Amino acid sequence: MITGNTRFVPLLAHPCRHVRTPPPFNAECVRRGLDISMVPLDVPPLALDETVKALRQIGNLAGMVVTIPHKTAIAALCDRLEGAAAMLSVCNVVRREADGSLTGAMFDGEGFVAGLRHQGHAVQGRRALIVGAGGAASGVAYALLAAGVASLTIANRSPAKAETLVAQLHAAFPQARVITGTADAQHYDLVINGTALGMHDGDALPVDPTRLRPGTLVAEVVMQPDVTALLTAAQARGCIIHKGIHMVEQQVRLLVDFLEHGDI
Ligand SMILES: NC(=O)c1ccc[n+]([C@@H]2O[C@H](COP(=O)([O-])OP(=O)(O)OC[C@H]3O[C@@H](n4cnc5c(N)ncnc54)[C@H](OP(=O)(O)O)[C@@H]3O)[C@@H](O)[C@H]2O)c1
Repeated sequence: MITGNTRFVPLLAHPCRHVRTPPPFNAECVRRGLDISMVPLDVPPLALDETVKALRQIGNLAGMVVTIPHKTAIAALCDRLEGAAAMLSVCNVVRREADGSLTGAMFDGEGFVAGLRHQGHAVQGRRALIVGAGGAASGVAYALLAAGVASLTIANRSPAKAETLVAQLHAAFPQARVITGTADAQHYDLVINGTALGMHDGDALPVDPTRLRPGTLVAEVVMQPDVTALLTAAQARGCIIHKGIHMVEQQVRLLVDFLEHGDI
């Protein structure tokens, strides 16, 4: 029930029809007895600055959750960034502090790794390929290294973004084996689509499924549709599949923790 005491958390996206975070986020708030409600807001990129400027003024704003295409732009609008967000200059959640300042953090990666573990998939020691170098892929790459993958290859349509990400990851994890490469999936036991490919009918596949070895764990960040064309093709090849929704389910707990624990 929304009352005069309710604090709200807009989910900033463009478009916003694909988002799946509000139901589990709102359910988590109810489960904890918190009077906080999430509503999706469709914010075009050119309106982001003005929107955030206005939201800063709103006293019952707990914070914002942010998704495609705003994760990099929002990081530049925060007053401070924590953890992976500070290393990658990208964030997916922003807390409004009591003084109206904004603290950004990034939980896509922790949510992704928690989702894998929750489904019984170990991460440590895997040879991983991630396709993509945008907001979600950056967070996932960071968390995979933190969780101890043996090696990580990053393949992205825009190679310069992959190079920048690898440099950031080397700065955060100097001992890590992380390189840029192609999306040839043959030599990996964990293959992740970290791009937006798969959200729309007719999208190209992020990897050529004929290069997947049976038994490979193939994971998605895309959560709408529930089972993407990549996952369908991977299953037909005898791979183990892991859906994008698991990342959301495990991440809401981290998002609510962060929004609840401001210290300013
Ligand atoms: N499951 C979850 O909890 C969760 C959480 C966050 C995000 N997501 C999903 O993750 C996806 C990406 O979101 P994001 O925030 O990372 O977006 P983003 O920062 O805009 O990054 C998009 C990525 O997709 C690539 N890409 C886009 N169109 C492409 C195409 N036609 N061909 C090849 N590569 C293409 C981009 O490559 P370039 O660098 O070359 O442009 C970039 O690597 C979305 O589907 C989003 O819904 C899921």
